Amino acid sequence: MPESGKGFMEDCGAVVLAAGKGVRMRSPLPKVLHELLGEPMLGLVLAALVPLFGRRVWSVIGHGADMVRACLADAPGYFVLQKEQLGTGHALQTVWPELEKAELRHVLVVNGDTPLLEPEMVRDFMEQSLLQEADLAFLTLTLKDPGSFGRVVRVNGRVKAIIEAKDYDPAEHGPESGEINAGLYFMRLRAVEPLLGHLGDNNKSREYYITDLVHLAAAAGLRVLGLNRGEGQGLLGVNDPWELAEAEERLRARLVLAKQREGALIRNPGAVRLGPWAEIAPGAEITGPCEIYGRSRVEAGAGVESHCWIKNSVVAEGARVRSFCHLEGARVGPRCVVGPFARLRPGAVLEEEAHAGNFVEMKKARLGRGAKANHLTYLGDAEVGAGANIGAGTITCNYDGAAKHKTSIGEGAFIGSNTALVAPVSVGDRALVGAGSVITGDVPEDALAVARGRQKNMPKRCKK
Ligand code: UD1
Ligand code: CA
Repeated sequence: MPESGKGFMEDCGAVVLAAGKGVRMRSPLPKVLHELLGEPMLGLVLAALVPLFGRRVWSVIGHGADMVRACLADAPGYFVLQKEQLGTGHALQTVWPELEKAELRHVLVVNGDTPLLEPEMVRDFMEQSLLQEADLAFLTLTLKDPGSFGRVVRVNGRVKAIIEAKDYDPAEHGPESGEINAGLYFMRLRAVEPLLGHLGDNNKSREYYITDLVHLAAAAGLRVLGLNRGEGQGLLGVNDPWELAEAEERLRARLVLAKQREGALIRNPGAVRLGPWAEIAPGAEITGPCEIYGRSRVEAGAGVESHCWIKNSVVAEGARVRSFCHLEGARVGPRCVVGPFARLRPGAVLEEEAHAGNFVEMKKARLGRGAKANHLTYLGDAEVGAGANIGAGTITCNYDGAAKHKTSIGEGAFIGSNTALVAPVSVGDRALVGAGSVITGDVPEDALAVARGRQKNMPKRCKK
């Protein structure tokens, strides 16, 4: 077999069928853009294929194509437009010329609604197909309830056809075996090419089914294999909101377990939701319920307490994010303390050992090394020097209704409680601002600034 051994993948490509409307989702969003743990379904399928195929991946898109393209603009591979969604077989016909141009020998075809696909299972399936010299192989599962899946029909163990649930007639096709088509196919291009034109739409859905290739191939005497993977729940397609939640839960459990195996300490693991690209280092500690999505990283010795929501953020070694924090696009430096009840918005940066305490909101703001804003504060478009102390209730007034302006606070400065810093403004190193001040002009280094009404005490007039 020339294809086997090192480099057998080089003349293989992959096709993802992702043009369907997803009627059963009853949602205006194209089905393949529905998210699992913060990532679109199609992105997950592509991520499983890229380690095997690199750029040799063609996604057939149609319904909401512009949205799909925009959402997956960075995804590797190519998009091919299926203008009218006339069925999975028609989708394959649409992409076929591209596969021929790429001079592929074999193609893997997968439904875009199988987000639990893993590279190992795909590789295994292809190796089996090649080893057994299949012209057309597909993966099958055995289910107690075959639901809406295509039924595999065998005669004396040999695959004869796949019959869609709607079209299945026990009188004609025999009693149900429970064996269904998982929607993963591996084809030898030369073998299948002559059959493509013979696909018809003579079925209950009036669609061109990819699954009809199976009986066409069997009838033509080609080698057709249905490779069974038992229950293989990880391959079930997502067609409706219930199945989406099921698949998401499976993915969640799989990701949490993988991190635990690598050494992450995950407490209440059933309530921890991790995005597929979230990194939780060995020795990091997370307590559920909590959610960590996107390109987030929790480093060794860091802890995230319960009820936190974190996306695209770093929690560096030894830092602690206490309960009920919301972090997005933030960087929490080594040994920092955040929360409880803090909100770090995009561009929030805490240098080593800084603190952002309860009801502190930061946006595009940096707390220098060891600086502290411990209570009830808003820091927007702000730079705070090392060791500065921001008193309770300090607000950077960064927006004047038209534009955003910067506040800069020097090293070791002390901002008294309930201060409004009206930007653009700067407070020098080691300066002291009296509590309750409204600071509209720069404060020099080492100065004391007080900007508030002076207290007057006067006799109290009481009516008798
Ligand atoms: C399909 C299979 C069925 C199998 C099941 C496994 C067919 C006819 N049936 O059924 O045997 O058991 O998957 O999950 O293939 N699509 C297009 N263009 C179209 C129509 C669909 O790209 O014109 C895409 C969809 O976006 C979807 C995939 O093809 O990602 C499968 O289509 P879907 O309608 O979900 O097929 P099923 O009914 O689930
Ligand atoms: Ca499906």
